[in-house]
Amino acid sequence: MDKIVVRGGKRLKGKIKIGGAKNAVLPMMAACLLAEGESVIRNVPLLADVITMKKVLEQLGAKVTLRGHTLHVDTSNVSRFEAPYELVRTMRASIYVLGPLLGSFGKARVSLPGGCAWGPRPVDLHIRAMQELGARIRIDHGYIVARATNLRGETIVFSLPSVGATANTMMAAARAKGKTVIVNAAREPEIVALADFINRMGGRIRGAGTETIEIEGTSRLDPAQVRVIPDRIETGTFMIAGAITAGEITLESCMPEHVEAISQKLRQGGVIVEKSRNSIYIKGKRRINSVDAVTAPYPGFPTDMQAQYMALMTIARGTCVISETVFPDRFTHVPELRRLGANIKIEGNTAHVGYVRHLSGAPVMATDLRASAALVLAGLVADGETHISRVYHIDRGYEAIEEKLSKLGADIKRMPE
Ligand code: EPZ
Repeated sequence: MDKIVVRGGKRLKGKIKIGGAKNAVLPMMAACLLAEGESVIRNVPLLADVITMKKVLEQLGAKVTLRGHTLHVDTSNVSRFEAPYELVRTMRASIYVLGPLLGSFGKARVSLPGGCAWGPRPVDLHIRAMQELGARIRIDHGYIVARATNLRGETIVFSLPSVGATANTMMAAARAKGKTVIVNAAREPEIVALADFINRMGGRIRGAGTETIEIEGTSRLDPAQVRVIPDRIETGTFMIAGAITAGEITLESCMPEHVEAISQKLRQGGVIVEKSRNSIYIKGKRRINSVDAVTAPYPGFPTDMQAQYMALMTIARGTCVISETVFPDRFTHVPELRRLGANIKIEGNTAHVGYVRHLSGAPVMATDLRASAALVLAGLVADGETHISRVYHIDRGYEAIEEKLSKLGADIKRMPE
């Protein structure tokens, strides 16, 4: 296992390019199962989760080739319909094959994903939506065993705007007979990107990005080519890297309109945020002001940015309250930030972040993807060295983060633990 060692105190300067979005490419890879033949996905981020999803597809019989940042997915020989526990346990997004397998082949056997580092992650909305589309589902020895002679369109109302359940339902409905309407759908840009990909295959999806999505099922879809949208969470993470080090950086190949909630918070804190069509300029300053935050489904402040934002608030002037409304237990980064000297008190799903003059480097442990990003950000400003162990968590969602940060002047390196 590797660790990352950061020596704090460097102000970041320069430009970096944002990569493709992890949470867009994973459902897109699964959506290739909706068409027979070879689809091509460009601007793919080189992440551990992409490799895991590649294995899931290969397990089904697909031929998946990664050349540089381009994926070729040939589904001509798909002949198995199972996503095994070993892979689903590694990455819960493996459940994205449920919808397309049911839509294309009428059967699927997908391991139930367990919980994750910060709590239970139910999939009841996915299962209920498949049943409402006509699938017969039973849970057997930890697996979702699903059968559907033919799926038929329905109106499906979600009790909450689940990203994963919206994606799975859109994919299954794309091959169902008739029209499906998803009410209270997730509005994330990754959902819009997935709908765009399915429409390139010949699908007929309207309303993606709003809370009501209409899908006209078709009996056949054809392979297509698509380019992955920029990763708005990588963008937000680097925006905070510029702010927390009082640096001056420009993020290129990003989509500023996807990070408005983050830009607004940083501006309220006193950070200069200037956007152009596909780049964002950040100029931080010493001692930005504390600003409260409440996470919410898109377009609200993203739960995937909560840990990184908290790292920034630990050295902001004043105190603030950060409420986590999407995953109320998502605070595994807090005990580790406290080891660096942060003053944080948790009450239920709310963190009270007090002021400290500075953080001080220490050995800390990554527990999950975004918590590890928060520890790297804190290490950029902590006095002395911060050693972050278990960095395999960070490799799931950030491509070469230490290379990108050192290119901006950070004193950061990866080494064997
Ligand atoms: C996606 O997870 C993302 N993962 C998560 O990003 C992100 O935090 C989350 O959406 C919210 O934006 C991928 O896209 C691969 P949800 P997902 O279903 O689909 C509850 C990262 O760091 N729920 O929108 O699992 C759930 O418990 C990851 O990149 C049910 O109750 O999230 C949560 O409270 C972490 N039943 C809320 O809905 C269900 O069947 C939102 O979850 C499904 C979800």
